Amino acid sequence: MTSKNIQQRITELRSILDDYNHRYYVLSQPVISDQKFDMLMKELEKLEAENPDFFDSNSPTQRVGSDLNKEFEQVRHQYSMLSLSNSYSEEELRDFDQKIRKLTDQKFEYVCELKYDGTSISLRYKNGMLDKAITRGDGTFGDDVTNNVRTIRSIPLKLKGGGYPEEFEIRGEILLPFSEFDRLNEEREEEGEAPFANVRNAASGTLKSQKSSVVAERKLDAYFYYLLDENLPADGHLENLQATKEWGFKISPDTRKCVDMNEVIAFIRKWNTRRFELPVATDGIVIKVNSLSLQQYLGTTAKSPRWAIAYKYKAEQASTILQSVSFQVGRTGAVTPVANLDPVQLAGTTVKRATLHNADIIKNLDLHLGDTVFVEKGGEIIPKIVGVDMAARHPMAQPVDFIRNCPECGTPLIRKEGEAAHYCPNEDGCPPQIKGKMEHFISRKAMNIDGLGAETIDLLFNEGLIKNIADIYDLQKDQISRLERLGDKSAERILKSLSESRQIPFEKVLFALGIRYVGETVAKILAHRLMNIENIINASLEELTAVDEIGGRIAESVRSYFSNPENIGLITRLKQKGLQMQLDEESLANRSAKLEGLSIIISGTFEKNSRDDLKKMIEQNGGKNVSSISGNTSYLLAGNNIGPSKLEKANKLNIPIISEDDFLKMIG
Ligand code: IVH
Repeated sequence: MTSKNIQQRITELRSILDDYNHRYYVLSQPVISDQKFDMLMKELEKLEAENPDFFDSNSPTQRVGSDLNKEFEQVRHQYSMLSLSNSYSEEELRDFDQKIRKLTDQKFEYVCELKYDGTSISLRYKNGMLDKAITRGDGTFGDDVTNNVRTIRSIPLKLKGGGYPEEFEIRGEILLPFSEFDRLNEEREEEGEAPFANVRNAASGTLKSQKSSVVAERKLDAYFYYLLDENLPADGHLENLQATKEWGFKISPDTRKCVDMNEVIAFIRKWNTRRFELPVATDGIVIKVNSLSLQQYLGTTAKSPRWAIAYKYKAEQASTILQSVSFQVGRTGAVTPVANLDPVQLAGTTVKRATLHNADIIKNLDLHLGDTVFVEKGGEIIPKIVGVDMAARHPMAQPVDFIRNCPECGTPLIRKEGEAAHYCPNEDGCPPQIKGKMEHFISRKAMNIDGLGAETIDLLFNEGLIKNIADIYDLQKDQISRLERLGDKSAERILKSLSESRQIPFEKVLFALGIRYVGETVAKILAHRLMNIENIINASLEELTAVDEIGGRIAESVRSYFSNPENIGLITRLKQKGLQMQLDEESLANRSAKLEGLSIIISGTFEKNSRDDLKKMIEQNGGKNVSSISGNTSYLLAGNNIGPSKLEKANKLNIPIISEDDFLKMIG
């Protein structure tokens, strides 16, 4: 290559990689496989190394990626968090082994570990207590997410047994189990939020949530794989990990010692398919030299240790033909393009469809009908199209166009500023949106109508018997019992359940209305703050945003819902049917404004009330429960075993410390 060609290729690679990085980290919509990405990155690294004249500090090779978030305090890592070099073939592993053997004559062993696919975390313990939890960040600085990490049940806050160093660091991976991922995405779709693309995004998104209560609900898990300190119990990495198990850490039960590369490769082959039986995601195997003294002797490069390497499993790929693209309209009106493919075998299942997410993805892939496309099944449950075989394209092939009108009701679609998805705005007239609203209304967490399900709603809607949520309460027994597969018994059960739903508390009724962005938690907050439906209907934007945790996006959505006369009509009818449109007596009786304007942080364990009860009392009395101390905190409500750093911080900021009894007196 001439120097000009080299420069051209470098510029091209930088721009391609920047774009892929953006899609992956910012948009959470990866369009190529990790392997392809790594290949391009390696090519760029090589060209840059051979041609130092073209160095650029802003090249994608110069960053390790960052997950820093301005809302969290940034803390310097005591030992910088390196990454691992990746490999994709047995040959690359043999090279790795040879390189080490060239540097030492010593006999040594490897340890093979599953490479967990979540988000990495570094924990510091002092005198057996969790002191700090820091994300990887840019490798040198990370976000202090200690409060969030404390909610993860499998992470010990206080160590068991003894023999641990006075101060040490341990690293591991925070994961969201598949079962939780499914539950969470169902919930998000119900609440009109975009689902997480994969478990990794879901885990890191959750860990960086601004509310530790959200983290607590989502049942994250964590496995630990790296202990760091000057004085460790043993010279073996695995032996040290086994010691940490005694201290209360969760370590993988599947880690094995291997005497040579042949054993390592056997381990890798064994887990190639078995890993799919695990409850959490894995994307490879990490191979480490077991002896710490040998690790130290081998040292590290600027980016990764020489004593370890990751083997990444290839995401299974197949090529097939794109037949057509169809467009689905969801409950919230979001339009999702779906590729219809010639059936092809992939990772044990027949794939006929692949998600295309949104218009940008179609445009970037430059999809044409009849294209030969590559589909991949990675961490995502639904396969995706990762590329097009341009050479195989027919010269007359037609590009795939995104539709302009809703395929269900014909309304012109809209695309909001900054959002990737197209929406059908015809909320009250578009069949899937109407049916979706009714399905949400009757769902278990909302009005919990026994015997009514999506299928029955479909039947009733298609028969013209129900057009909105209020119509459900006008249903007569014979209208239901006449329907296919239903009878007198089912009809009675449905009517009984509808009648019983008049006792469902106001906060659930509010949630059941299906106002965009008003999920269970927001509905609860609104109900408790504003007490009845009239107050909510009449609340101005300012009044709504003045409620803690209600931001502009939610407030606007609430305003827009209640400024629609059709919705007001629905509510009037539901009220006439006897549904709860205000807080119940008990909640009302316990309310006061005694803590109005006060921010209270709870720390430690309490004798008379649980922390959740105390939180509830703060909220019922008009106060705000906060999770981290700042100059704006009014009181520290301290129980037993409160963390010394919290106490210190409270004293430094002159924040009054009150006991459980003081607090109970305050609220009378
Ligand atoms: S060891 C210096 N072991 O993979 C070595 N990492 O690409 C530190 N990971 O940032 C990492 N499972 O988030 C190690 N058994 C394992 C792992 C593992 C997953 C992640 C970790 C790390 C990334 C490196």
